[in-house]
This record gives sequence, C-alpha cells and structure tokens, in this order.
Amino acid sequence: MPDIFEVIKGDHDKHRDLLARIEDTPDGSKDRNIAWQNFYYDVKSHAAAEEETFYSKLMSQPWGQDAARHSVHEHQQMDDLLEKLNDMDMAAPEWLETFRKLRHDYEHHIDEEETEIFARAREVVDKAEWDRHGADFETRKSREREIVDQKSEDALED
Ligand SMILES: [Fe+2]
Ligand SMILES: [Fe+2]
Repeated sequence: MPDIFEVIKGDHDKHRDLLARIEDTPDGSKDRNIAWQNFYYDVKSHAAAEEETFYSKLMSQPWGQDAARHSVHEHQQMDDLLEKLNDMDMAAPEWLETFRKLRHDYEHHIDEEETEIFARAREVVDKAEWDRHGADFETRKSREREIVDQKSEDALED
C-alpha cells in the first residue's frame, strides 16, 4: 500500500489531467461534461478524506493547526465554486471563465500541499503512521464518494 503522500499526490496528478482536459474540450461538449463530472466527484471526496485522515493529524502542532485551517478554508472556497459551476449552463461562455478561476486556485492549492505542507508533515509525524493512513484515506474517500450528492442536496435545503 502506498503511503498517504503517494495516494494524495496520485489524486492531484489525476486532477491536473482532468483540469487540462476540461479546458481543452469544446464548450458544451459531452466530453467536457464527462471530464467535469469525473473531476467534481473525485475532488469533493478527496478533500473530505484529506481533512479527516491528513489534516486532522496535524492539528496537534501549532504550525499544523494553521496549515490545516488554511487548507480547509481553501477547500470551502473551492467547494463554493464547484457548486456554482455545477449549477451553471456548461455551454455558456461564463462557465469557462469561472472554471479558469477554479483551475488556477486549485492548482495553487495542490502545489502548496505537495511542497510546503507535505515536507513539514513528514517531519512531525512518524513515517509508520503515514504509511498506515494511505489505506484510511482510500477508505474514507470511497465512503464519501457515495454521499456527495446527498450532501449537496442537504446544503441546498439549508
Ligand atoms: Fe486539499
Ligand atoms: Fe489535496
């Protein structure tokens, strides 16, 4: 089983590919819609799994608490954009404009996780722990994948 850093990095690389594919496909095309749905569900379950199995382990460190709060705040901002894009007409020119903002912000977010945050996380938590959390992350992520729609509907009702 890969450690949690490898699992998260694997997801990020998949997300980078999907972001590029979404932007490269024609406005309103079926291919864009397929790539978008794929990205939407994967990134939402990724963020939830990351908060529970990665950032939660950093909360006992002062710098880790700051890093976790910062990242969770960015997750919330991205989630707002994800929901906005999901509700917009994909063929409209505004869709791509809003998508480009999400792509820019998200790529910045994952670059920061992979460089600054991973490096410090490796220093403060034992390697054996992180090795175990790779599997926890995967389990949490697939459970979350099942309830993404339910959560979005609940949020609309609030
Ligand atoms: Fe994240
Ligand atoms: Fe991430």
